[in-house]
This record gives sequence, C-alpha cells and structure tokens, in this order.
Amino acid sequence: MTTYREEFRRSIEAPEAFWGEQARRIHWETPFEKVLDDSRPPFARWFVGGRTNLCYNAVDRHLASRAQQDALIYVSTETGIERRYTYAELHAEVNRMAAVMRSLHVKKGDRVLIYLPMIAEALFAMLACARLGAIHSVVFGGFAAPNLAARIDDAKPALIITADAGARAGKVIDYTPLVDEALSRAEYKVPQVLLIDRQLAPERLQAPYLIAYEPLREQFFDACVQCEWLESNEPSYVLYTSGTTGRPKGVQRDVGGYAVALAASMEHIFQGAAGDVMFTPSDIGWVVGHSYIIYAPLIAGLTTVMYEGTPVRPDGGVWWRLVEQYRINLMFTAPTAIRVLKKQDPQLMQQADLSSLRTLFLAGEPLDEPTAQWIQGALRKPVVDNYWQTETGWPMIAIPHGIEDLPPKLGSPGVPSMGFNLSLRDEQTGDICAPGEKGVIALGYPLPPGCMQTVWGDDRRFVDTYWKSVPNQQVYSTFDWGVQDDDGYVSILGRTDDVINVAGHRLGTREIEEALSSHPAVAEVAVVGVADAVKGQAAFAFVVLRDADRLNAPGVREGLEAELAHTVDTQLGAIARPARVHFVSMLPKTRSGKLLRRAIAALAEGREPGDLPTIEDIGALQQVKAALGAGG
Ligand code: PRX
Repeated sequence: MTTYREEFRRSIEAPEAFWGEQARRIHWETPFEKVLDDSRPPFARWFVGGRTNLCYNAVDRHLASRAQQDALIYVSTETGIERRYTYAELHAEVNRMAAVMRSLHVKKGDRVLIYLPMIAEALFAMLACARLGAIHSVVFGGFAAPNLAARIDDAKPALIITADAGARAGKVIDYTPLVDEALSRAEYKVPQVLLIDRQLAPERLQAPYLIAYEPLREQFFDACVQCEWLESNEPSYVLYTSGTTGRPKGVQRDVGGYAVALAASMEHIFQGAAGDVMFTPSDIGWVVGHSYIIYAPLIAGLTTVMYEGTPVRPDGGVWWRLVEQYRINLMFTAPTAIRVLKKQDPQLMQQADLSSLRTLFLAGEPLDEPTAQWIQGALRKPVVDNYWQTETGWPMIAIPHGIEDLPPKLGSPGVPSMGFNLSLRDEQTGDICAPGEKGVIALGYPLPPGCMQTVWGDDRRFVDTYWKSVPNQQVYSTFDWGVQDDDGYVSILGRTDDVINVAGHRLGTREIEEALSSHPAVAEVAVVGVADAVKGQAAFAFVVLRDADRLNAPGVREGLEAELAHTVDTQLGAIARPARVHFVSMLPKTRSGKLLRRAIAALAEGREPGDLPTIEDIGALQQVKAALGAGG
C-alpha cells in the first residue's frame, strides 16, 4: 500500500513521473510531448503540446458510458424550480448555448463575461465557453456595477451573458440596471449582451444591445458544435479575486493542468467516483463553484447538485432534505453556512435520512473547533476541512483520504497536497521555520497543475505580487500565516495582508476603504476585519469626517451611516458593506503614515494592540477605543 509520505515525496521529487501518470485520468486528443516545462520560472507549463478540452472531459467523454445518468440536478428554493439533466441532456444544452454564442461571433480566445445568478444556464454557458475555447470570466452576481465595470475593462469581453434578475432570500435583484450602469461606466465597449429571461423582473430593460437567449436556443435546438482542441496551456478562464490593492486580480488558469489536477483531487481528497452525487452549495462566482460545482464532479462523472437559495429557507432542514431526496454522497460548503445552521433547530437535521452522505467538506475560511465539533456530532459523519485559494484552484492542504487514511487533527486542515512544495517561512529572513514556529505559508516552484498561470494580461504583477513577497527566496506567497507540526500538519493562522474573510467571501479592505472614501463627507477611513461569531469576520469601518462637527446635529450620525452603507452597496455590493461604522477624528498610523490596521482590529476584538514603537500619535488609538466603547 502506498503511503501519503511516499506519494507526496514522489510528487515533489519526480513531478514529471507523478503528473504524467495522473494525466491518464483525462482525455487527450493529442498526447503531450513534455509533462513540465520549467524553463522560465516562476511560470510553469504543464503537459506541453497536449491538446484537450474541458467541456469534452466534463460532458462528451461520459456519453458512451453514462449518457442517461444525471449530470446536473438543479434546485432553486427561490423559484421552486427543480430540474434534472442527464449527461445526454447536458450535452444538448451546452451545444445549444455554444451554437448561440458562435452565432454571436464568439471564437477561441475571446473573453465572455458571465454575470449570472445560480441558474442552470450559468453552468451551460461556462461549459459552452470551454467547448469553443473562449475564456470565461464569471463575475459574482452580488457585485455592484462599478465592480463589474472594472472587470469589463480588464477582460475586454466579446460578449456578456446575464439574466433579468437574481433572487436571494425571497428578494428579487434586478440585474439589467446593474449591467446597464456597468456598460456606461466601462471604457471598453462590449458589443453585445445575451439575456437569459427568468421572468423574475417585471420591468426589464429594453436596451438595444440586449439579445434574448430563448429564441436563439430554439433556433439552435439541434445544433452540434465541435470541441476546440486547445493546447494544454491555453487559458480556460479568468476569475477575479481581491488582494492588497483596490484593483482586483484576474487569476488565469490553463486547460490541461486544471483538468488533471481536479480529476486527481476527486480521488485523492474527495473520494468521489463516477455515479456519486456531489452537492456544493457555493456560488459559480467563486473558485469553489468553478472547481467543485462544475468542473471536478463532471470531469469525474459524478452528478452535481446546483443550488440557488440560502441554507435556512424555507427552514434549516432544506439542505438535509436534499441529501435524502437525491441520495447525496458528498457535500462541500463553507463553515459560515454551518454556523448559520447551528442556530436552527437540530431536529431538522435528524428528521432527514442522511445515510447516503459520506463526508462533509468545508473550506474558504477557518473552521473553528466548536463548529467542527458541533457538526461532526450532529451529522455523525466525517467533516473534512481543506485549505486553498482562488489562485491554487484546488485544495493545497487537506487530508488525502484517497491515498492514506491519515487521522485528522482538530484545528488543522491537514497536510500538503500532491505537488505542493509547501514551507513555512520567516517573514523577515525568508528562512524555513522550525516545527511549531509561525511563518508565512509559501510554495516552492513549480506550482502543481491546476494553479494560476499568471495574472490576466499582467505577467509582471503575477511575479511581483506572489513571488517577491517572501524575502531572499523565489517562492509563492499565500499571504496566510501558518504553523506546521512535527507530523507535517499545518494550521492556518490568518492573513498576512489586508484581505479579510467575511462569511467565506474574500474581500480586500482597501477596496472597501476606496468605496467609502468616495463619499464627499469622508476625509479618511480604515477598514479592518473583526472576529464575528457567525461570519468568521466582519468589516468595521473607522471614518474621519471632513467636518466632524456635523455629527453634533441630531440624526446626522444615523443618516451618514446609512449613506455610507449605501455607497458600499452601490460600488462593491452588499457583501462588502461594513457591519459597523465608527466615527473618529484621527486614525492610528506609523510615523511613515501606514495605517495600523492590525492594532485597530486588536482593539475591536478587545485585545491589546501589542507593540507599537513607531506610532505617530497614541491619542488616535485612544480615540478608536473610545469610539468602540461608545458604539459610535
Ligand atoms: O485566508 C485563506 C482562507 O481563504 C483564502 C482564500 O480565499 P479564496 O481565494 O476565496 O479561495 C477559497 C477557496 C476555498 C485563503 O488565503 N482560507 C481558505 N480555506 C481555509 C482558509 N482559512 C482557514 N482554513 C481554511 N480551510
């Protein structure tokens, strides 16, 4: 029997042999000539010269053996729609969508921006892009118009696909006004917008650029669109994510490496096999949705359950009833959802037959011990934490149950996954930390297949952001703190940068600060992440007003708070809205003018701010403390 240690060592020391074998999991139309091209670090090219297609691997390849098996079960508790699609039906829908896109002149290499709620057409659209060799860029439906505009200008899409509306917790959110505003804000002129009409928004825009999908789908009902065989290293998609600056980064991924890595992860980590049913309540706008609602389960021949709704509507038992109804074997969500469910009646879980469920996977934010213990006790199933990022595309730390049944350790997502040459690095020297010593989680070159290739359109930014942050070493920085024990288990200790994690959503505090600063009353602002019992972290804003005296007038404070919340809603989206706004007359900074966000966050969490040798004015910290105490 192979052990984790042996396999892991081989994946690092003989990556070509290891990944060459893994590559057999997918279809190659043309075999690759070389497993790895590492001639230009930090860029890596996997399966050079090989030609394949993500859509072919996710759909067509299964037609011979499982055409009548469900590929997709779509459930919306918002609209009451439940629909099943076999692999044959999915194939037909994807072909229709691809034919429609082709009729709109979308071709290989073009970008297609997908701004859609959780509807089955979103999955069809992503796979149709993959089929045509077009590069999809999915923008989370909760993002506001300026956010969308920034992504339009960066991706320069040939087509936008959107819907009339999204729905969340019973509320309909019109999409077309947001798209309309984004289009007028963006410098780049998008030639056309395809509209999926869910008939949710009664007053839809009749803008001339909107093209209705339904009639075109009818027109191309029997269409057959050949898969475009792409060289393994051609881009498959761009997914924007937050970083330290206000400008989001387009994480670019390849075709062949991604397919191989996901297929391997399904066996090594998720232990999902063809015919299993996987339910990943996340969103297609996030990397978990890309990898584990869509590509990985379909590539591996599973049935994927796609869900629109919250975990608590109509009640906290809804997910568990789905497990019973669809005989779900694997579930994958974020700890926040579990903390939300914890507040519900536990009987609701007991009432469902959960016998089909094998494992619950959790990722995206720290899994705190009380939550882990509660859900494990309530479900009586293994709960498996795993750690990764938009950049890596698949778990870089997990328990590889499919290789060896390593015992889990509370507080740690596990050990490095195959091919991740992970080390903990001293922030000052770049040296490798001793076991038990806190350091920056870093990855050695080359990153394994499936990881980001570069920042879309900006190789320089990829190198400068990720590969130059650890001093004296050319290693990839995750910007997370961690600590590794003697057995190799890593615990995650939070971000090293100004990124916060609210309900599993990755947000840049700078982006929120920039949005708030655009309000005319605001002179200066600091946004920090503060521990929150349900969401993991919450954003707190500390605002310096241009005219602080204004606050003395009755009702002004409340009015301003509402305006500031509205500003964030309209610029970034409601998910970025600060949970609290505190007004202060100055912000704590170092002598060189750097905001002391960590000190502010410490105070907000009721901790001491620690060493502050270079603070400019200690009075500013006292102000923060007073504002927190006064709740003002
Ligand atoms: O800080 C880490 C945290 O989420 C960040 C990545 O977020 P995102 O790019 O949205 O990708 C999520 C993919 C699951 C990481 O840098 N994070 C992710 N998983 C964990 C985690 N923190 C602690 N424990 C985890 N399991």
